[in-house]
Amino acid sequence: MTIKILIEEIDQTNKDIYDLLLLGDESKDMLNDYIGRSHKYVAKISEEIVGIIVIIKTRPKTLEIVNIAVKEEFQKKGIGKQLIKYVINRARAEENKIIEIGTGNCGINQIALYQKCGFRIVGVEPDFFKHYYEEFYENGILCKDMIRMKLYL
Ligand code: COA
Repeated sequence: MTIKILIEEIDQTNKDIYDLLLLGDESKDMLNDYIGRSHKYVAKISEEIVGIIVIIKTRPKTLEIVNIAVKEEFQKKGIGKQLIKYVINRARAEENKIIEIGTGNCGINQIALYQKCGFRIVGVEPDFFKHYYEEFYENGILCKDMIRMKLYL
């Protein structure tokens, strides 16, 4: 059964939202760079914000999902998928043509999720994470390369 969430756009962030954003992007520098020029949509259950998705417009008719995160205790309940579907539907309604997303090579579950939402792998940027982040592992894999994915609407 799909968990019932309310999705709405927000303008402002606070400490709780910023912490959630850091789950989806380890780099504060990158986060601070895009957050002011992004659209942010939160998933709410009752009044609690349980997830967020952030998009920026990169080129004409092209959007990029630059952050997605669901609070740990609410993960694996379909909220991430609902947030992505919401952005896809909105992008389509606004006559965009492409949505892009990038994720680390170690993010096996994220790569699965994005493919289930229709994204295809279109490229790899080897050593993308070498200079940006402290070393980090997920699923026992050192994060090194950026997997670039696209959805043609
Ligand atoms: N283990 C196994 N599969 C997982 C998974 C996990 N931990 N997380 C997501 N998936 C996959 C499954 O294939 C699932 O498919 P199914 O519905 O057919 O079972 C699909 O993703 C949908 O999962 P969903 O419940 O919608 O994902 P979520 O609400 O947990 O949100 C993230 C997914 C990635 C946003 C969430 O796990 C998260 O916030 N992670 C930390 C931040 C992060 O990594 N952000 C992305 C940066 S690129």
